[in-house]
Amino acid sequence: PPQRHTLSLPAADPHALAQGAALLGAGRLVAFPTETVYGLGADAANPRAVADLYAAKGRPAFNPLIAHTATAAQAFAIGAFSAEARRLAAAFWPGPLTLVVPFAGGDAVCELARAGLATVALRVPSHPVAQALLAAFGGAVVAPSANRSGRVSPTQAAHVAADLDGRIDAILDGGPTQVGVESTIVDATGAVSRLLRPGGVPRAALEQVLGHALADAGTGDAARPASPGRLASHYAPRAAVRLEAEALAPGEALLTFAGARPPGAAAAAMTIDLSPTGDLAEAAARLYGALRALDACGAPAIAVVPLPRHGLGEAIADRLARAAAPRSAPEETPQ
Ligand code: TXA
Ligand code: MG
Repeated sequence: PPQRHTLSLPAADPHALAQGAALLGAGRLVAFPTETVYGLGADAANPRAVADLYAAKGRPAFNPLIAHTATAAQAFAIGAFSAEARRLAAAFWPGPLTLVVPFAGGDAVCELARAGLATVALRVPSHPVAQALLAAFGGAVVAPSANRSGRVSPTQAAHVAADLDGRIDAILDGGPTQVGVESTIVDATGAVSRLLRPGGVPRAALEQVLGHALADAGTGDAARPASPGRLASHYAPRAAVRLEAEALAPGEALLTFAGARPPGAAAAAMTIDLSPTGDLAEAAARLYGALRALDACGAPAIAVVPLPRHGLGEAIADRLARAAAPRSAPEETPQ
């Protein structure tokens, strides 16, 4: 995309929010904070803006986007919600949950944003800046994570600028995000809801509301393909990522948790403890910033200690597995 000037807008300023909403209305690209990660917003109804967004991110256009609305009522007008989908929406919206439901038709989310699918991904974010921006804009806003395709998702405005300065029109700076990993994505198009992506709402919380276990994405079939954007390599720093490290090799950086110091840790190029007290919510919030910082220290590899898998640990493990996976082949679809 052509080089452009990227405005830095302080989200605390009401004028900046109005400016952000006006830019969206004019078909421009505006990054904004959500409670999970920063999103790169475009008017969901405007195919030219959506095409511009795919180009700015370097994302393949067959990977559909999440449409964000200020209210659940707006989302209910875009998708056809089953009773089960409505229960999840009532329990977790606004919040870090994305629901994939059959597309109900209409102009609010253009075909390009849905990648031509018969379904649509919808989310009502809780972050006050996202809420204010969506309310001021009035319509649905598609927003993938505001990083270059295949890179680590941004949890601060500075991360967005590092990836997208000169490629987008504005960044609303609302400080660091709270959850730190992307929304949980649930496919609620079938009889039994499926977990497509673990994220900010833990599996157990969803299952408690549903009263039954969630099926896994792997159990999809031709009629209900799994999330098109799920690929092995994603969220990838430049350095190699080595999981379940029992000891450190010379020169490696260390990503650790709850005070763990494996043999060799004293010689680490750099050490970040995601949560010295062993709090998984704190670890999720700090994960992407830690990967960026460890990558910037120049070590050839980042060794990661074993982490718990319960609660937000499932989303953390998912993102770390993708960061460690062999890097993108052409047929894969980074986000
Ligand atoms: O927390 C989040 O969800 C962030 C913030 C900005 O809201 N957004 C985000 O968007 O993570 P993105 O584009 O990075 O990831 C969206 C995922 C992709 O894996 C995409 O394939 C999937 O949602 N998706 C979108 N529409 C879908 C659909 N109709 N069926 C299945 N998966 C879908
Ligand atoms: Mg992403």
